[in-house]
Amino acid sequence: PTPPVEQPLTLGFESIAGSKIDAVAIPAGYSAFVLAPWGTPLNANANPWKDDGTNTAEDQLNAVGMHHDGMHFFPLGEGTTEGILCINHEYIDSSALHPEGPTENDGVRPTEEARKEINAHGVSVIHIRLEDGIWDVVPNSEYNRRFTSGTEMDVAGPIADSDKNLLITKYTEEKGNAKIARGTNNNCGNGHTPWGTYLTCEENWPGYFVRKDDKENWTAEQVRLGIDDEETRYLWETVPASEENETGEFARFNITPSGADATEDYRNEANGHGYIVEIDPYTPTSRAVKRTALGRFRHEDCSFGNVAEGKPVVFYSGHDGRFEYIYKFESKELWDPADASPSDRLATGAKYMNEGTLYVARFSTEGVGQWIALTPDATTTKGERLGDVEGFATVAEILLNTPGAADLLGATPMDRPEWTAVDPKTGAVYVTLTNNTRRDNEDDDPDNDTNVANPRANNRFGHIIRWTEGEEPTSFDWEFFLFGSPAAGDSETNKSGLDSLNELASPDGLAFDERGILWVQTDNGASEVKDQTNDQMLAIVPSELKMAEDGSPVVNSTNQDQLKRFFVGPNGCEVTGLAFNNDDTSFFVNIQHPGNWPFSNNAAEITPEGTEVRPRAATVVIMKEDGGAIGV
Ligand code: FEO
Ligand code: CA
Ligand code: CA
Ligand code: CA
Repeated sequence: PTPPVEQPLTLGFESIAGSKIDAVAIPAGYSAFVLAPWGTPLNANANPWKDDGTNTAEDQLNAVGMHHDGMHFFPLGEGTTEGILCINHEYIDSSALHPEGPTENDGVRPTEEARKEINAHGVSVIHIRLEDGIWDVVPNSEYNRRFTSGTEMDVAGPIADSDKNLLITKYTEEKGNAKIARGTNNNCGNGHTPWGTYLTCEENWPGYFVRKDDKENWTAEQVRLGIDDEETRYLWETVPASEENETGEFARFNITPSGADATEDYRNEANGHGYIVEIDPYTPTSRAVKRTALGRFRHEDCSFGNVAEGKPVVFYSGHDGRFEYIYKFESKELWDPADASPSDRLATGAKYMNEGTLYVARFSTEGVGQWIALTPDATTTKGERLGDVEGFATVAEILLNTPGAADLLGATPMDRPEWTAVDPKTGAVYVTLTNNTRRDNEDDDPDNDTNVANPRANNRFGHIIRWTEGEEPTSFDWEFFLFGSPAAGDSETNKSGLDSLNELASPDGLAFDERGILWVQTDNGASEVKDQTNDQMLAIVPSELKMAEDGSPVVNSTNQDQLKRFFVGPNGCEVTGLAFNNDDTSFFVNIQHPGNWPFSNNAAEITPEGTEVRPRAATVVIMKEDGGAIGV
């Protein structure tokens, strides 16, 4: 029999209007239900969620965390009606978490409140099942578990193996110099691996640590990465030592040296943070592992390039900060297809993610880019050997201060790299550059000027770039893919010709489904678009990858065969995180920091005028009413 002719991808729904209501908006013929909102019990140790904020820290440890973000669906069986959902919990809304919001007495946070906040962070691993047309949490499943800002995790790769004892603290020393760290913080975007594990990414973790002595004493990486110099985000470090359950449970967030050496305090505590963290959702007893070879920075997310037998496995990850960089990790080991279903997933993770080369992107001219290896033998822009520069002698030291090393090598400062996504059909890599209002050609600072890949001063609406890898691992070809804009923008602003049914700003979440549809989510603060619609998710059928023949920027071309708005979130929220079941009949989309939502299990039901609900971040399950595949 002749194989079926592949039909061109067509989006089979009408683009929906912008929306500004206390409910989600979806196309005709679709339904949307709330799944696993903050506080949903995962086991019998949690009381049911209470709408007055009185659930305890112990409840929170055994229930779904707050502020859902990146997410992935791991199939069980056929993966159409059952699976394990891994969900990041980026940060917390303290006013919703506690009955009357956060409290403190003379600058000291109450122990129970701090513990509840720590337990609301991290990752939820949730067994879910479709029954009678509704996806729900499987209560007390052995798969259900939580990783929090307090969970002990393993640390692997060059920083863990360094003879400089980079992880030593009072706590790790008492555990026999264990290669461990406690907790994962500010888990924003996510990734997964070709061998069936989840990757959670530590983004704005420096704000969870404080160093209070003179900055002249600080290490270069503490300054470069932006450890706080006054107080931490939630003041957990203020809980008295007498309240601690184990050594430094709260004190460790203050990394100011206080003892005679590193074995007596927590000066190295933050060295255990800033990584891609691997979790095996299928093995309930497994520990999370921080993979230091992929660099230490504010990781937004992590995507793998399409794998091929005998080739390295590559991962892409953006550093979300103004003027920060895009990175690629390439494994030393070459891909063995037998590793797609290994008996020990974390051993496979160690095989491909503990040893390799980390590169940073330089966009040199229109269409042309290079990957610069972050190794001691790299040459700085001043012509020095990187390993001869103080603080960068070894791979471990380079990784500890990844962005500091990248600064010296001439990486291209970008407009806040957020998510990456890889086209499963073509292998093209996409990255969202969400915005950068400090891009400025008028002031005296040349470092914040526009550049070839970030061409807009005061980039309020963001853009998306895509590239394909070159013949060598050190080259790539790139082009502009999409510029955010209000529909009302002039032709210079609205370079991509958006209209009222697909205008968008600050693209952030980004994922391909296996059919090759690209889904874009927004985290927008620009009023020109915000006045028209809440944050949203759009579907794109990308045009064939093409480079302008003369290498000129493709700024006015439309690289989307179709670009339609599929979903709009409720007032006050950000739409972030996307997962698919195996036949694309159920989409899981996260709503973070909603204002006055959800009113009921029907995510599209508007909270009635005059009704105030305690807001709950939640997953929204989108299905077609006829049960068909979504989007087509
Ligand atoms: Fe947490 Fe960069 O968004
Ligand atoms: Ca400037
Ligand atoms: Ca984000
Ligand atoms: Ca964002």
